[in-house]
Amino acid sequence: MSKNFFLELEKLKNTLPQLKRNYFFEETDSTNTQAVQLAKSGAPEGSLVLADFQTQGRGRLQRQWESPAGKGLYFTLILRPRLHPQQAPLLTLTTGVALLKALETLGLKELLIKWPNDIWVKEKKLAGILCELFTTQVKGVAQIDFILLGVGLNVSQSKEDFSTEIQKLATSVFQVTGEHFSRLQVLECLMKEIFFQIENLIQKGPDFMIEQWKKFSGFMKKNIVFEEAKQTYEATVFDLDRSGHLLVKLKNGEIRTLIAEEVRLKAIEI
Ligand code: BTN
Repeated sequence: MSKNFFLELEKLKNTLPQLKRNYFFEETDSTNTQAVQLAKSGAPEGSLVLADFQTQGRGRLQRQWESPAGKGLYFTLILRPRLHPQQAPLLTLTTGVALLKALETLGLKELLIKWPNDIWVKEKKLAGILCELFTTQVKGVAQIDFILLGVGLNVSQSKEDFSTEIQKLATSVFQVTGEHFSRLQVLECLMKEIFFQIENLIQKGPDFMIEQWKKFSGFMKKNIVFEEAKQTYEATVFDLDRSGHLLVKLKNGEIRTLIAEEVRLKAIEI
């Protein structure tokens, strides 16, 4: 099974010229963790690290990403973009746009991008993105060494494939559509759209991508509850800035800039 999977993965290089190298693990701790080592050892831009099963799949804010064998897509793309390190969050948003568009192509509807990195459908989480930035100093100036785009997509999980705790929060392509998609077919669709949208970001710039995100996220003007430094606030979303930070207005009228690494969204009015 794994050999076949790898051979099929290799065939994707024929249709996706940006895909340069594949690393496939039947089982690993986390594809992001593996990708750090591979990138440090010189894996080129466009290297894909994919696992059938992750024992320690990681999410944002130290959360776990449940990764049962053979059920989901768990992969990390290694990128070495010529962007300023401060623009790195834009890649999370770009990947969000790409996932949403790719999933729409597969026939899914009513998708929502929940800032900064979740794809939701019918008030449950379908996919998550873990973007990690590694910089290096060149003549005293920080530059991007590499960026890891880790994507987890629940493909054919039934409710019982998730832990009891996660069952309430997560869904899968199968649960939403009633169809069992081939993971390779879904992967090809996602990768094509991710490469396309990254090119859009580079060619058309941050403003274009931010407008796309705002259009597809359906997140503007929503009322949210968020937690920052252990305090809970209610606010209304009103914009996304050029670095991908969320601008919100608190109940008392105060404007706040939310940074993904510091904030936990607790509720959203859908
Ligand atoms: C989140 O929702 O907070 C992000 C989840 C990202 C999960 C993916 S699965 C593949 C890659 N490897 C990991 O350990 N995490 C990401």
